[in-house]
Amino acid sequence: MDRLRIKGGQQLKGEIRISGSKNASLPLMVAALLTDRKLTLHNVPRLADITTMIQLLKQHGVEVGAAPGENGHDRGTTLTLQAAKITSTTAPYDIVRKMRASVLVLGPLLAREGQARVSLPGGCAIGARPVDLHIAGLKAMGAEIDIDGGYLVAKAPKGLKGARFTFPKVSVGATENLMMAAALAKGTTVLDNAAREPEITDLAECLVSMGVSVRGIGTETLTIDGVKSLKEASHRVIPDRIETGTYAMAVAMTAGDVELLGGRLDLIESVVQTLRGAGVTLEKTEKGVRVHRTNGALRGVDVMTEPFPGFPTDLQAQMMALMTRAEGASMITETVFESRFMHVPELARMGANVTIHHESALVRGVPKLRGAEVMATDLRASVSLAIAALAAEGETTINRLYHLDRGYERLEEKLAACGADVERLKG
Ligand code: UD1
Repeated sequence: MDRLRIKGGQQLKGEIRISGSKNASLPLMVAALLTDRKLTLHNVPRLADITTMIQLLKQHGVEVGAAPGENGHDRGTTLTLQAAKITSTTAPYDIVRKMRASVLVLGPLLAREGQARVSLPGGCAIGARPVDLHIAGLKAMGAEIDIDGGYLVAKAPKGLKGARFTFPKVSVGATENLMMAAALAKGTTVLDNAAREPEITDLAECLVSMGVSVRGIGTETLTIDGVKSLKEASHRVIPDRIETGTYAMAVAMTAGDVELLGGRLDLIESVVQTLRGAGVTLEKTEKGVRVHRTNGALRGVDVMTEPFPGFPTDLQAQMMALMTRAEGASMITETVFESRFMHVPELARMGANVTIHHESALVRGVPKLRGAEVMATDLRASVSLAIAALAAEGETTINRLYHLDRGYERLEEKLAACGADVERLKG
């Protein structure tokens, strides 16, 4: 298993290219299941989760082609996906357990084929993460769904019907699943209290290019008119806002100055406000976003995670790493996922002072962190350890790097190009 070795103390300076969004790419790839026509996606990042999704789609019968982006590998991958024929409506446990987003195939398979068998995702490091909302929404559209042998077994022999469904809780994945199902349902579907994340908007826009009418894009009520068949389309994936926020925090941690090429401030407004409050400067530039913290110490700020447009839960761990070195205290409250504080004991091994009380963590800034051997527990937790390591005295080794590889493209190369002392240890 690969490990990452980081020697702290270098300021990050230079440029980092922001990759295409992982969380936008995954549902966009699944949308290929809705049609026998070709879907071309530009700016797809090269990540383990994308490879897992390709593997899943291939076993459903999707032909997948991958080519370097328009300007070479630096600009991601262009994927072509064509599901001329669905050869299997089963999403097996072996793949689903590796990546929860696999459950997104449920709605599209059911809508196109009238049946689907999708393994339940099972345990997950960040809380229970059930799929009840996905099931309730599809049932409202006329599906019959049972659980058998660890699988969701869904049927809609007469096809899905448009329906009005109000989410009792905001869910990104359930919104995406239902949007795709609605695209091939008979009649109109209205989704209330839908998620409004930029990744949802990206999927909605791609569905529109594929010939589906989606109204209310960017709002909490989405209205989708089902169609009989979708057409060939081409779509460019939005830049990864979580990667943008992560590098902004890494730069802030090292009091550096970096331009995040392709980054978009409008996708991370709540993060920008929070970081500005902490004493970090973020400016829009012609090529993206410039982040710097050249004068003054970091200030402690309070953060509460919420669905978009609130502060994203996927940046909570990184923000906490940053706050470990702030002047004063910071209260970090996680409202989206239960038990998403696994990074806390690892940060503590580096000298951080964090006290957890229910869903909040009180972070008291310390004058210095010290390098240590630490363990990555999930995707965002692992990168928070890298951020802490960049400012720690001495050497940090992060174990179980496969978590990080699921969501960060060439992290060590991007950091090293800006002056970080970082190395991947193979094996
Ligand atoms: C997506 C993102 C993930 C991000 C999360 C919240 C992808 C591939 N992943 O995950 O990185 O952290 O949004 O922004 O895009 N819930 C239920 N029942 C359900 C579904 C969800 O109770 O049927 C709960 C979850 O346990 C969680 C909350 O709703 O507490 C939000 O989860 P959801 O928005 O669905 O997250 P994902 O789509 O899994």
